[in-house]
Amino acid sequence: MIVGLHDRWIVERQNEHYYKLAKKLDYRSRASFKLIQIDDRFQIFRLGDSVVDLGACPGGWLQVAKERVGETGKVVGVDLRYIYPLEGVETFVGDITEDKTMIELLTRFGGKADVVLSDMAPNIAGHYSTDHARSVNLCMYAVDVCDRILKKNGKMVCKVFMGDLMDSLTRELEKRFQSVKVYSPDASRETSSEVYVISKGFLANHRVKLKVLEEEDNEPDFKTKGPKI
Ligand SMILES: C[S@@+](CC[C@H](N)C(=O)[O-])C[C@H]1O[C@@H](n2cnc3c(N)ncnc32)[C@H](O)[C@@H]1O
Repeated sequence: MIVGLHDRWIVERQNEHYYKLAKKLDYRSRASFKLIQIDDRFQIFRLGDSVVDLGACPGGWLQVAKERVGETGKVVGVDLRYIYPLEGVETFVGDITEDKTMIELLTRFGGKADVVLSDMAPNIAGHYSTDHARSVNLCMYAVDVCDRILKKNGKMVCKVFMGDLMDSLTRELEKRFQSVKVYSPDASRETSSEVYVISKGFLANHRVKLKVLEEEDNEPDFKTKGPKI
């Protein structure tokens, strides 16, 4: 999408505003405000909830999630990159496309997560449809996480770059959730194609059970695949 000079100016002013606000309020990233705005509008978190945050580095969403689920809540963040420790939050380094990351999440949650968050973004190739397809692929891994660890009636918030696979993605989500909405928070105008899909009322009808197979060397071999669309 081509952005005019005036639009660019507005976006830069807005980014600067949230950047300064994040510094002032001690949030690790501007992204915190996107999640705040999403939660204020869609009521994602409840006190005591268990939350997993995929693609959580540097930790802006983790901070917001922890604030909102409170002392009794559980928040776990995973990212390809190391996340500096945050009080009351568990983190680990992992690639969500790898089986061992899924095993780690299962070990930490069982089927007991109330909310799955994903702000994952692919490495930007600069080619619109490639970036879009990679982003949708990451979302499908997040859906895969839901199928393994989300409680019935749980919620999911997932970032995606808009494009022609959006319909397929929302169809996959509609098979699994009672309600699916696409939303662009005010704090999210930095890229014109970024939106968040808010899914509520997980049906648990695509629940996938773990299969851990013993190999000859006794290393557990976990077979899983992101659902294909
Ligand atoms: C926009 S940042 C997340 C910002 C974060 N929500 C915050 O508030 O600080 C996107 C993150 O997704 C992570 N990511 C991308 N692909 C991933 C993957 N396959 N597994 C885990 N994390 C991934 C990147 O390393 C990056 O840190």
